[in-house]
Amino acid sequence: MRSLRIGEIVLEPQVAAHAAELFTVLDDPDLYGFVDDKGPASETALRERLARLESRQSPDGLEQWLNWVVRNATGAVTGYVQATVRAHGEAEIAYVLGRRFWRQGIAFAACSAMLEELAGAYGVTRAVATLDPDNIASLALLRKLGFRFESEDIAAHEVRHVRDL
Ligand SMILES: CC(C)(COP(=O)(O)OP(=O)(O)OC[C@H]1O[C@@H](n2cnc3c(N)ncnc32)[C@H](O)[C@@H]1OP(=O)(O)O)[C@@H](O)C(=O)NCCC(=O)NCCS
Repeated sequence: MRSLRIGEIVLEPQVAAHAAELFTVLDDPDLYGFVDDKGPASETALRERLARLESRQSPDGLEQWLNWVVRNATGAVTGYVQATVRAHGEAEIAYVLGRRFWRQGIAFAACSAMLEELAGAYGVTRAVATLDPDNIASLALLRKLGFRFESEDIAAHEVRHVRDL
């Protein structure tokens, strides 16, 4: 896994050493209105979680878990993007940025770089995103990235959007 750069945005492979900077961004209850994860309980808990994720794979070894921390032009950690790479060239993507970094094109840039890397270095041919249908920001981001609606799970209050890479 390597660092990626797009314009002034840098994506660094996420490691436990990012915990302090990332905690300042993720320690915000208002970030998780549309996300199952409710954020880290403490910086220590986040460091432990990031350390576990450094294996970059699921416990059964069947999925690659790729996480990048996203820095902006000033070098500040703005959040993260992630991909769960499954068999048959499919990857599920997700992304969370701190609120003060929204609407600056950072998620679009970071996801564009990640999707290019997934296609070029990990053999991914199809990207998938599962989200709350009321998550307007995420829907707008996916639309701009070229994803299209694929299906809805009404009971789970989730929609699935896809893009061929
Ligand atoms: C979703 C999220 C990552 C978007 O990040 P962002 O950096 O603000 O997105 P960008 O600035 O790259 O914007 C991408 C597009 O979405 C649009 N957009 C972003 N937020 C929007 C909003 N709240 N309402 C409408 N459009 C929005 C932008 O205008 C842009 O489209 P445009 O260039 O055509 O105008 C951010 O809102 C976030 O972290 N949300 C909380 C976590 C979350 O819900 N994650 C997704 C779980 S599925």
